[in-house]
Amino acid sequence: MKSVGVAILGLGVVGGGTYKILRDHREYFQRTQGVDITVESVLEINKEKALALGIEEGKISDNIAEVISNPNVDIVVEVIGGVEPAKSFVLAALHSGKTVVTSNKELFCKYWHELEKAAKRTNAGLYFEASCVSGVPIIRTLIDGMQANVIENLTGIINGTTNYILTRMSREGSGYEEVLKEAQRLGYAEADPAADVEGYDAAYKLSILSSLAFHTKVPLDKVYREGITDIRPQDIAYGQELGYVLKLLAIGKNGQNGIEVRVHPAFIRKEHPLAAVSDSFNAVFLKGDSVGDIMLYGRGAGALPTGSAIVSDVIYAATHNDIKYTTFKNSAQAEAGVKFVNDFRSRYYIRFTAKDKAGALAKVAGVLAKYGISIVDLIQKGEDCEDIPVILITHETNEYAVRRALDKVAALDDVVSVDSVIRVEV
Ligand code: HSE
Repeated sequence: MKSVGVAILGLGVVGGGTYKILRDHREYFQRTQGVDITVESVLEINKEKALALGIEEGKISDNIAEVISNPNVDIVVEVIGGVEPAKSFVLAALHSGKTVVTSNKELFCKYWHELEKAAKRTNAGLYFEASCVSGVPIIRTLIDGMQANVIENLTGIINGTTNYILTRMSREGSGYEEVLKEAQRLGYAEADPAADVEGYDAAYKLSILSSLAFHTKVPLDKVYREGITDIRPQDIAYGQELGYVLKLLAIGKNGQNGIEVRVHPAFIRKEHPLAAVSDSFNAVFLKGDSVGDIMLYGRGAGALPTGSAIVSDVIYAATHNDIKYTTFKNSAQAEAGVKFVNDFRSRYYIRFTAKDKAGALAKVAGVLAKYGISIVDLIQKGEDCEDIPVILITHETNEYAVRRALDKVAALDDVVSVDSVIRVEV
């Protein structure tokens, strides 16, 4: 039977989950995959942590050179996260011809081109299923399962922390800060939540996923990004009245005008399959020209779900000799000639506060009309008060037209403030 040795760089939550799956399923993988996979080395400063998992003392090291040069190690699993020192460690492994499996979305998104170049030079494998939506096998689906299709659209809920926060705000009507604190207490949100709540994590993943889906490099700087920190519970409640659910969406489209990639909060119809993706669950909805719509759903974080993606990559690498790299020229920048759409089209939910005066709404409608924005729904909230909240939903229109029109709306004498602008999708 073929023997394959693995090194795990970092025994945090994901490294620990990966180790447990490899240890507990060793005999199962021998039987089902015909390969004996053993953990030959771990890079971990905290020796006690490694010993507590049952790892032999002789296999624990705090020296990356020692781990990589170990002749029993064929595959290096990087689960440290962040750019450095992970990047140097991964490059060192690839330079010495070892296959790398990584869960590191930031590293992969920013330096994929450099890592792939290093891998090709030594004919090493480079696998990254765990980098996006961890337990959900979206990367393998895009690389292998959707090859027959031209993918037109990829829409996902690809960040569990923000989905958990928005779900709780929707259920309980609570404010963002309150729910964030509770999410941090329960371990759903990091002590420094910026990467998740500001949409960076989802943008890293969207850059990787849309590059694969559209067979061209979609660099991070092409991804429009907004987080959830300005979301107010009253907007979620008004949206619910209108039949919508609020999600942090990652949207990738490939149309006649070019590629459009954006991460921002959006209302979606409550009947759409993505509306039912709650709590910390993730899902990706794909539209292929042959298959039509498909949706993958599952856990996008956690020790065993992320370990599942990593170990699947380890098994794939151990049982395949045909190393696949990207189908496109993988450079830091987008390929010349590829167009990106910034002035995208959407419908919009707009909440503003107006003075309760005859003609106030007509003036707002007049400004919007000047910018070609037509209103589908208009609801006035509250009675007998001086300032009234007004909610309107537009027909599909251009982003820049909305921004310009709202600057003018905000300057009207009868408008107190423009309070919220949320795109309405699917
Ligand atoms: N922090 C991520 C999330 C998980 O909340 O989905 C890892 O990408």
